[in-house]
Amino acid sequence: MTDINQMTLEQLEEAVRSCTLCSLHQGRTHAVPGEGPPGADIMFIGEGPGFHEDRQGRPFVGAAGKFLEELLASIGMTREQVYIANVVKCRPPGNRDPLTDELSACDPYLERQIQLVKPKVIVTLGRFSMYRYFPGAAISKIHGQPKRVGSTLVVPMFHPAAALHQPKWRPLVEADFKKLPGFIAEAESLGDEKPPPQAQQLSLF
Ligand code: URA
Ligand code: SF4
Repeated sequence: MTDINQMTLEQLEEAVRSCTLCSLHQGRTHAVPGEGPPGADIMFIGEGPGFHEDRQGRPFVGAAGKFLEELLASIGMTREQVYIANVVKCRPPGNRDPLTDELSACDPYLERQIQLVKPKVIVTLGRFSMYRYFPGAAISKIHGQPKRVGSTLVVPMFHPAAALHQPKWRPLVEADFKKLPGFIAEAESLGDEKPPPQAQQLSLF
């Protein structure tokens, strides 16, 4: 197999569809590599496929996906303009949390997706993508507050599925979304300046 770090986006999506690197491949109907155009300004990173995603092989196609599309529409964007990925590409049985070894096995795919898409802004949706950048943080404290990683801004947000279940979070995620166009503009102005030192220590989980 080609080294993940040499793959094109298409090769990566193909490799994910036949991946057996962790035990999650055993229960999947379809792996869900992610989708969107290279060069998208925004990349969303969710948790993992749920029932509908596993059936269709596409990310965020259930109720949470519908809400994500509404949130995008509120800032004049469509899902075709953004890249949508997950920390694990195969559905955990019964939608349980992904385990540490599954997250580690799948992470190189996500890392390569980020390298290839080169988003200006990364939005983490849910705990596991948040922990990748903000280990141990609480979403209720840090949501909507960007952190610079190289020339990218990483913004933690409430997961749309969580906001659907917790009505009090809905206005918060709606307000955080409204900040995204400003964050894209801010990230553009960062260019390739040298990042501050603490942004270079990306600790995993
Ligand atoms: N929830 C996620 O985190 N990812 C999906 O792809 C769908 C629902
Ligand atoms: Fe491979 Fe990721 Fe699926 Fe595990 S979850 S089998 S590492 S694609």
